[in-house]
Amino acid sequence: MFLSFCIFIVFCAYTSSHPRLIEKDHLSVDFPVCSRDCWGAVPSKDTRPLNKPVPYVIIHHTAIPTVCNTTTRCMRDMRSMQKYHNSLGWGDIGYHFCVGGDGVAYEGRGWNVIGIHAGPANKLSIGICLIGDWRVETPSAEQLATTKKLLSTGVEMGAISSDYKLIGHNQAMTTECPGGALLEEVSTWDNYHPGHVNFRELNKQTKF
Ligand SMILES: *[C@@H]1O[C@H](CO)[C@@H](O)[C@H](O)[C@H]1NC(C)=O
Repeated sequence: MFLSFCIFIVFCAYTSSHPRLIEKDHLSVDFPVCSRDCWGAVPSKDTRPLNKPVPYVIIHHTAIPTVCNTTTRCMRDMRSMQKYHNSLGWGDIGYHFCVGGDGVAYEGRGWNVIGIHAGPANKLSIGICLIGDWRVETPSAEQLATTKKLLSTGVEMGAISSDYKLIGHNQAMTTECPGGALLEEVSTWDNYHPGHVNFRELNKQTKF
């Protein structure tokens, strides 16, 4: 009963009130999405447009909050992250999307806005976080599967370049994020790009 209620909310919010993920109306997705309205986001105060398609996708973990296995808990975590990031003056949750242990993709900034998630890489990337601490443990199969589908949707949407490079946060900056276990998993995915990327240099070469 409870589960079907959650799923109803998720699909309802996705299909009726929030068209941004499906702005190309031929595109439908086969994974659950919870829009900003669905999780109760406050309005964004930072809507600088992203120069699309971006050449990089950066994978993050949250460390805290730890994994959320229910939609109710993931929605609460999205609200708490947005509140925290707003308190840092970021004007919104920093990530473009987050994926929960429930296999639901939670819309952060969406596809069209510059994120605040990886310093010098922000203008050249989409930032996707997998809610949880993935230094030792690996995310659930559902969480990984939805993340992969989100990547291909981003390409179809024209937000992510078709020859994008997929990296972990620690390949752009000095951090433990996205956790060793998650990075090991991601390193087996299509478009994974090994090694450090010098975004300060890339920014100099790019006309925004
Ligand atoms: C969440 O689910 C995973 C399995 O996918 C399990 O290993 C973990 O213990 C669960 N965590 C909580 C806090 O329920």
